[in-house]
Amino acid sequence: MAPFTLAVLVSGRGSNLQAIIDSIEKKDLPAEIGLVVSNVKDAYALERAQKQGIESIFMDPKSYPDRNSYEQALVERIQAKSVNLICLAGFMRVLGKHFIETFSGRIINIHPSLLPAFPGLNVQKRALEHGARFSGCTVHYVNEEVDGGPIILQTVVPIYDNDDEASLSERILEQEHIAYPEAIRLIIEGRLTLSGRRVLHGK
Ligand code: GAR
Repeated sequence: MAPFTLAVLVSGRGSNLQAIIDSIEKKDLPAEIGLVVSNVKDAYALERAQKQGIESIFMDPKSYPDRNSYEQALVERIQAKSVNLICLAGFMRVLGKHFIETFSGRIINIHPSLLPAFPGLNVQKRALEHGARFSGCTVHYVNEEVDGGPIILQTVVPIYDNDDEASLSERILEQEHIAYPEAIRLIIEGRLTLSGRRVLHGK
C-alpha cells in the first residue's frame, strides 16, 4: 500500500513537528513526512527535519512578487511529493483561496485555544487577560476563515490563578503534542466525516 504522506508547514520551534515525527517513529502513526516547508529561514523546525533526514526547505515569501505566486510555488512543491495531508504546525502565515481550494479538505491546523474562542495571535495571553478558567488546543480543518474551519479534536486545560503566559502555553503545548498526532491518525484511518460544520468521529 502507498504510504500516507504528510507535508508539514512550519515557522518556528517545531515542537509539534517533533511530536508527529516521534509518533511515526513509535509506529503510532502509519505515515511518512514527505516534505517540511518553512517560511522562516532560521526556524528550528528545519533542523529537526534535517536531523531526521526529512526533505525540508525554506521558501522565502520575499523572493516572490506577490502572495499568489508564493502560494503557487508552495502548491507545486507539495504536489510534487504526492502529499495526502498538509499539517500546519505553528505556520504563522495565512493561506489564500487558491492554496486552500487546491487542497480542499486536506489541510489541518493546530491552534493553542479552544476555538472559536481566541482565534488569531497571542492567544494564551488573551485567554489569561480575559479571565477564562479553561483553555486548551484545537485541531481543525483549514478553510478560508482564519482559525474557523471544522473542529476535529479539542483538549481542555485549566487556567490557574498563578499562571502566566509561559506556564499556560506550556500546559497547552503538552496537550498539543498528544492531540495533533491523534487527529492525523483519525484522518488516516478514515474515521472522520463532515456533517455541515461538524466533524463526526464514527467508531
Ligand atoms: C503552537 O502552540 C501552535 O499551536 C501555535 O504555534 C505554536 C507552534 O509551536 N500555532 C498557532 O498559533 C497558529 N495560529 P511549535 O513550533 O513548537 O510547534
